[in-house]
Amino acid sequence: MTTIDFVTETLYEAGALARDRYADRTRLHIAQKADLNDLVTEADLAVQRQIVDRIARTFPGDAVLAEESGLGLPPEGRPERCWILDPIDGTQNFVRALFPAWGISLGFVERGSLAAGGVYFPITGDLFLAERGAGARRNGGTLSVSALDHLERARIDYDVSATDYRRPTLDAAPDLFHRVGGIRIHGCAVAALCSVATGDLEAYVHIALNPWDYAAGVLIVEEAGGRASTWSGAPLTFFEGRRSVLASNAALYDQFLPLLKE
Ligand code: 2AM
Ligand code: CA
Repeated sequence: MTTIDFVTETLYEAGALARDRYADRTRLHIAQKADLNDLVTEADLAVQRQIVDRIARTFPGDAVLAEESGLGLPPEGRPERCWILDPIDGTQNFVRALFPAWGISLGFVERGSLAAGGVYFPITGDLFLAERGAGARRNGGTLSVSALDHLERARIDYDVSATDYRRPTLDAAPDLFHRVGGIRIHGCAVAALCSVATGDLEAYVHIALNPWDYAAGVLIVEEAGGRASTWSGAPLTFFEGRRSVLASNAALYDQFLPLLKE
């Protein structure tokens, strides 16, 4: 089975499970992690278990980096093949039925570089896929970032995230906050990243994301013709913990970057 076929089948199967749990969400057990507002539900755990088991059956020996259940520490050494999974990105939205913006994210890193990735939104049924060098698609249709090059007209998702990050985020990018044409905060990295890939947003910024929040989404943005890096302009890596993330269309990247102070 090809990598992208595996990503597709895995996300559809996991999406059905997540949708069932979402329909029954008022009965889900919800736990709080280290941060008061960082939540994990039975749905996150069940979706992760299903996908991790599938990877182990199909590609035994592959490493997995995933948000829940103790799989969040970078694997020993630099594995040649590693899957990067967020079973539910946007857990707060899932729990409260907000928008609803939440998705399942699965990326595949081979020799340190993202080779393939997919994001599935079980409520809308939208499947985003990307393979390095082969473009990005939504439900089979090719995606391109927007061509807009006017900062004052740009729409961005300026994610202020958890309380500890709010002040540093606002202090790091006041000019960006004041100058862009419009600001949204979806509370879901993959929803914002996929909206950059479709051209509906010009950029997504977050001061400290984990690799499972951005791995697949960043490849989808890049393959749709966009650019992504840390706030210092360094390439994004996957085994070093949290990273600041700027993902944008190509036309505005060089204008956004100097407005973000790492
Ligand atoms: P999550 O839903 O998988 O936790 C919200 O600002 C975005 O940042 C979401 O994509 C969320 O992913 C992610 N995030 C990362 N760390 C977070 C934290 N400590 N609290 C809330 N959201 C966090
Ligand atoms: Ca998550």
